[in-house]
Amino acid sequence: MLAKHPAYRIICLDKLTYAGNLSTLKPVMDKPNFSFVQTDICDREAVDKLFEEEHPDIVVNFAAESHVDRSIENPGIFLQTNIMGAATLMDACRKYGIRRYHQISTDEVYGDLTLSAEAKPFTEKALLRPSSPYSSSKASADLLVMAYHRTYGLPVSISRCSNNYGTYQFPEKLIPLMIVNALSDKPLPVYGEGLNVRDWLYVEDHCKAIDLIIHKGRVGEVYNIGGNNEMRNIDIVKLICKELGKPESLITHVTDRKGHDMRYAIDPTKIHNELGWLPKTKFADGIKKTIKWYLENQKWWQDIINGEYQHYYKKMYGNR
Ligand code: DAU
Repeated sequence: MLAKHPAYRIICLDKLTYAGNLSTLKPVMDKPNFSFVQTDICDREAVDKLFEEEHPDIVVNFAAESHVDRSIENPGIFLQTNIMGAATLMDACRKYGIRRYHQISTDEVYGDLTLSAEAKPFTEKALLRPSSPYSSSKASADLLVMAYHRTYGLPVSISRCSNNYGTYQFPEKLIPLMIVNALSDKPLPVYGEGLNVRDWLYVEDHCKAIDLIIHKGRVGEVYNIGGNNEMRNIDIVKLICKELGKPESLITHVTDRKGHDMRYAIDPTKIHNELGWLPKTKFADGIKKTIKWYLENQKWWQDIINGEYQHYYKKMYGNR
């Protein structure tokens, strides 16, 4: 955004929970039109103070507790951050005035599909049928966003993306976890048979779609942002082994996730027709770029996995 819109002033508000990491912002920290504020989006006083001082005209809510496995262990914080946090931000938008509030949502709000070819990808008109505490909290926030639009006339939009991958992704998600484990010759924990399907979207393609929606998308609308790239987990993990020259014998099938959604797939025709967006990065290229980044930025992820992450890893994978 800083490169594309040099005249914009961008404020990044982040609580810096376990998944936040200031070193990720290093490349932009000293830019004159960028500032960082460490705050919880649920902290009404701090959020109001920031709005009073800065009067942002566009707010994009990326903030969320986002990991399904963690939501199964501890739903409470997901309800707090994902629902109450969105409400707090929108209340500030109402109070101080805003040109656009954009909510980053997820394809998981639609629930899962079967593997049958007859089961067609979800459009924006599909019912919300979330399965996990995480996706229920995101669906709740989406409902709240639309309610604020209807009740208070807040100029909102929502985007629902499929599975992101790429640089700087916290190594609890499938792709970075497998890269980091493979690089350390550690077991690659595949849930169940690994036949679950996800639709992979390169992070920069996702960001380009968000940029389009906040500038040209219609107020009060939902846009699906899908990668047109459905793949089985097991095939992704095998591909990572191949790219890194690691043996597939590292793959270990572990106990499945509770309530594990079988397949996610969304139809991005609306954003294509209205805003001309299409995912540009082919998976074969995106995964190479991603692996290269993790190879070249070992300090970034090693600092993460040497810290609190070890307790998480032991707790989540120790008994599987
Ligand atoms: O679809 C968008 C969603 O994608 C986002 O809304 C979520 O915030 C994001 O976490 C992601 O959800 P998933 O649950 O699909 O992503 P995750 O990387 O956790 O898992 C991807 C698939 O890989 C899923 O079928 C579970 C499986 N898996 C995951 C991990 C971490 C494994 O087999 N082994 C693992 O160790």
